[in-house]
Amino acid sequence: MTARLLLLLIVWLNAQAGFCISIVEQNLVRRQSSGGISSSSLQVLQENGFTGQVLTSSMAGFSNFTQAWAMNYNESPQLALVPLTSNDVSVAVKWANSFDYDFAVRSGGAAASQSPMVIIALSLLNTVDYIPSEGVIHLGPGNVWGDVYDAMADLDVTALGGRLPLIGVGGFTAGGGISYLLNHYGLASDSVIDAEVVLANGSIVWASSNANLLYAVRGAGFTIGAITEYVVKAYPKPTEIYSGFVLFNMDNFDEISAFVANTTATNTDPNVALLMGVVLSQGVQTILIFPIVYGDEAFAKQSLPWIWELPDPLLDSTTNVTWETLQNLQLDFVSHPLPTDDYQQHSIVVRSLTTSVIQAAVDWQTPLLSDPRWAGLQILIEPFIPNSFSSHFTTGPWPHSYPTMHVIQLFIQEADAAPADSLENFNQLVTGAGLVEAAAGTGNVLQRYPNYYLQGTPADQFYGPNLPQLQVVKREFDPNNRFNKGIAIVNSTS
Ligand SMILES: Cc1cc2nc3c(=O)[nH]c(=O)nc-3n(C[C@H](O)[C@H](O)[C@H](O)COP(=O)(O)OP(=O)(O)OC[C@H]3O[C@@H](n4cnc5c(N)ncnc54)[C@H](O)[C@@H]3O)c2cc1C
Ligand SMILES: *[C@@H]1O[C@H](CO)[C@@H](O)[C@H](O)[C@H]1NC(C)=O
Ligand SMILES: *[C@@H]1O[C@H](CO)[C@@H](O)[C@H](O)[C@H]1NC(C)=O
Ligand SMILES: *[C@@H]1O[C@H](CO)[C@@H](O)[C@H](O)[C@H]1NC(C)=O
Ligand SMILES: *[C@@H]1O[C@H](CO)[C@@H](O)[C@H](O)[C@H]1NC(C)=O
Repeated sequence: MTARLLLLLIVWLNAQAGFCISIVEQNLVRRQSSGGISSSSLQVLQENGFTGQVLTSSMAGFSNFTQAWAMNYNESPQLALVPLTSNDVSVAVKWANSFDYDFAVRSGGAAASQSPMVIIALSLLNTVDYIPSEGVIHLGPGNVWGDVYDAMADLDVTALGGRLPLIGVGGFTAGGGISYLLNHYGLASDSVIDAEVVLANGSIVWASSNANLLYAVRGAGFTIGAITEYVVKAYPKPTEIYSGFVLFNMDNFDEISAFVANTTATNTDPNVALLMGVVLSQGVQTILIFPIVYGDEAFAKQSLPWIWELPDPLLDSTTNVTWETLQNLQLDFVSHPLPTDDYQQHSIVVRSLTTSVIQAAVDWQTPLLSDPRWAGLQILIEPFIPNSFSSHFTTGPWPHSYPTMHVIQLFIQEADAAPADSLENFNQLVTGAGLVEAAAGTGNVLQRYPNYYLQGTPADQFYGPNLPQLQVVKREFDPNNRFNKGIAIVNSTS
């Protein structure tokens, strides 16, 4: 029972990225997306001084640099360019543009970093360099967070990174970045002091040289250029951590959602956080409570007593963990989706997390459970303390306002999805978001979260009143919309 439930948690842990080919068709600018890449053009690449690896799809190692997290993101790219230096990235971008080849910049590959033509894979830009005298860490975007945590395991400082080791530094930081230290220090994009960026015309610039560029990098980095290095603040690593998974059946739902809503409304201690999931186990909804408490067991149980006072948990794996172990907790359950899996997600962000908001998400989920096509449906609720996001209000395009924000993610995972199913899944998520937002009420609905986007959602639903400013910056630095993956900030201008 326990083992099966844990396996099914994969659903919740995996499905943090969604994609739907039929949706993306409507959104991405298609440059040369059908023709082949000529060998004469590859020769030009070498002549222009590209020193990295050039891999065609039949070559060994190709998938290492091109594979998508959710395989239904896959657009069957023809070529991987694997730069060794920022200059290589510059050469690659200029080269792709000169031949009008569509390209995508890829770091960890957890989201929409796909193109039918060229992947510029930053995996080998993977330095981790802590500079104690400056209190900063220089991070190559091609690192996955697990490698960063490993490299910093002996230090008493850390970066604000992903909660799963396989997430890439590049995309995570570009889209905001919710780490386990959000309640203490804000978003990962808050921690970006500077970034080296390769622009569409191949220029290599530091974001700090231009206020507009630094602004866009902090929350919409994927739309503005290829970030080849981040300089982020180093933060003290928590020393005592109590965490793990506690599962309950739905009999406890009303009580638990009331506790979660109350905790959310009253807790202001950054050392006390939790995630709530409603996951599906063979047609049976199951509640997942995932406390993350910086302190010992006694402090955890005193801070969130209800978790351990509720009767008959299906599982309780909470224990003392190290910072590195916390980052790996979800890994026990994570496996890559299969090539035919349709993984999609949508975010809703509210100012106040009421029981009716949680109920609406579950009410959306429940009737879908009877449809055998959906292998998994899940809801993830992320309550954050007041002001977790507030340092960011003026430094980047997301978020644009509000001191208190809570993120709700809706997921659909379907095995062996047909394109028509994929479109229906997309529509179900849009419907679900509408229902949750209706329950939240006018004035309670905030901007959606860029890192948990449903492909095709209009950009204003993420960047709101900051979108016009972001579009100005976009047109300044990428007038022909060459960096067109992820959220579509502008329509095609070419
Ligand atoms: C299992 C799972 C767990 C997750 N957990 C979290 C979490 O805890 N917190 C959170 O905030 N998010 C989380 N996410 C969301 C994650 O942050 C985003 O999917 C993020 O975009 C992944 O970054 P990446 O580099 O791995 O992805 P990629 O697919 O490589 O890139 C994603 C997007 O960013 C662009 N991009 C990538 N690198 C660069 C670069 N160097 N310069 C410019 N643009 C670039 C790509 O073109 C693409 O549009 C999770 C996702 C998954 C699949
Ligand atoms: C690709 O990844 C596999 C598995 O991780 C590894 O064995 C192989 O050496 C990698 N190939 C290249 C070219 O990096
Ligand atoms: C609500 O939370 C506060 C503090 O977190 C706690 O003191 C109070 O007992 C809780 N109320 C209920 C009904 O759980
Ligand atoms: C957890 O840490 C506390 C002290 O912080 C200690 O008393 C306790 O024995 C530890 N428990 C485990 C299971 O390691
Ligand atoms: C590249 O674009 C940037 C931003 O628009 C501009 O400042 C720079 O002069 C351009 N460089 C070249 C070589 O055209």
